[in-house]
Amino acid sequence: MKKDFYITTPIYYPSAKPHMGHAYSSIVADFFARFKRIQGYDVFFLTGTDEHGQKIQRAAEKRGMDPKSFCDEISKTFFDLSKTLNLSNNDFIRTTEKRHEKSVQYLWNILEKKNEIYLSKYSGWYSVSDEAFYSDDEIELVNDKKVSKTSGSIVEWVEEESFFFKLSKWQEPLLKFYKENPNFILPESRRNEVINFVKSGLKDLSVSRKSFSWGIKVPSNKEHVIYVWLDALTNYLSALNFPDTNNKLYKSFWPATIHLIGKDILRFHAIYWPAFLLAAEIKPPKRVYGHGWILSGEEKMSKSKGNILDPIEIINKYGLDPLRYYLIKEVSFGNDGNISQDKLENCINSDLANNYGNLCQRVISFLEKNLEMKVPNNFEFNIDDKKILDTFNKDFNKLVDSIDSQDINYYVNFIQEQLFASNKYFNDQEPWKKKENKKRLNTILYVSLELIRKISVMLYPIIPNSSLKVLKAFNISEESIDINSIKLHENLKINQKLNKISILFKKIEKND
Ligand code: ME8
Ligand code: MG
Repeated sequence: MKKDFYITTPIYYPSAKPHMGHAYSSIVADFFARFKRIQGYDVFFLTGTDEHGQKIQRAAEKRGMDPKSFCDEISKTFFDLSKTLNLSNNDFIRTTEKRHEKSVQYLWNILEKKNEIYLSKYSGWYSVSDEAFYSDDEIELVNDKKVSKTSGSIVEWVEEESFFFKLSKWQEPLLKFYKENPNFILPESRRNEVINFVKSGLKDLSVSRKSFSWGIKVPSNKEHVIYVWLDALTNYLSALNFPDTNNKLYKSFWPATIHLIGKDILRFHAIYWPAFLLAAEIKPPKRVYGHGWILSGEEKMSKSKGNILDPIEIINKYGLDPLRYYLIKEVSFGNDGNISQDKLENCINSDLANNYGNLCQRVISFLEKNLEMKVPNNFEFNIDDKKILDTFNKDFNKLVDSIDSQDINYYVNFIQEQLFASNKYFNDQEPWKKKENKKRLNTILYVSLELIRKISVMLYPIIPNSSLKVLKAFNISEESIDINSIKLHENLKINQKLNKISILFKKIEKND
């Protein structure tokens, strides 16, 4: 069976430094990538920066810099963030790289050859902030300014010669494609949104601009630069060495398993992108998942609104894994989520310090006092023991399916329940009262260690550093982590010496 998995984040605009929304998409994508790796898949995980277009050109001008130097500087902050977030990405693509430019021009040439592109004139609204064209009925007047109804960003009137992609021609093929691939767009609410939009009629799409120069040139007409979204979307192919479709990366990983994006850029990924690809006779990706927004108060957190939480500040204050855990757990995946430092602190104290950290510490210190850190040997499971260990088998298929349908919350809730149940098990079994019954004491300890092992394996995709601290103390290396091992009840070698675990999470002192 072929087990390849290709996941992407959006490539972010390096118009200002990254914020929590970017961190969120990247962390969630990393979660999926790491999960699929420990499931035995060959994973390619891509992220990067989207560096062309008017938005970037203007941001550079504002700083008095040429766009390339400006991009070099800000793209580096996104690259650095990928390290700070401990992302396991296999590549970081920048659209100003030669490999990407080649790939975009190649795709353009295919479309032109297939007669999917023609020269005409665009007159209509354009939002530089969204890099999007809007029709009259997508615009409203707010405080005397014309803005996009969906994003609220200001639009300006554009009239210029432009190449058009025959998007209208793809309306029916797209609807057919959505029908044949019912899980192409998830979650379902977004799927309906897209289908309704397509049904309401697609107009041909302007795919080049003439009034500025910061972009990839149209090969056949150097006065035009290619529309930044056609440019940007192609990154998913360039990273696989497209147009060399015979190389290993492309052959293994295209079509992409999932483009993980925010719902703000659904139209580009779920309509334009498959239309370009269908027109070029390239297979569209298998799935586009549009997650919700991280809100600050009631509003979307965004650079232009100036209401951003800086991920670096939060990480410096609380550490990376608490942030990763909190974002993955707190936001009901697919929906918008409101985050706050207060809730983050509660989450650290309850889930991480009290539940996971505490379970590890008390079991390990009991092992140290009673068995000199050695995995117990003489033990026998009773019904209670088997029952708690078996939960992981019983729900295993559901857990794996939950990941494949991006039901992150099912997965996280399961972990939380098991943490709770494991602490309760240790309390209820009262091993400290079993000093006379060595076999029972050994059994309780063995079961507790196995529970910690299983939970730590499950936590690895969420909080890799902390989980590895525990797994390494159990002599399990990162390379050998296998999600299937949570189905085993006797995976720890008897008599093997385990190591101590340093404090995993410090409790936060709260004033109230
Ligand atoms: O749109 N909550 O780049 P971008 C959750 N370059 N996610 C958020 C968020 C928030 N408040 N704010 C941003 C672009 N994001 C294009 C993409 S892809 C071929 C080109 C995340 O810098 C979310 O994933 O505006 C969103 O879709 C993306 O960042 C937009 O980043
Ligand atoms: Mg944006």
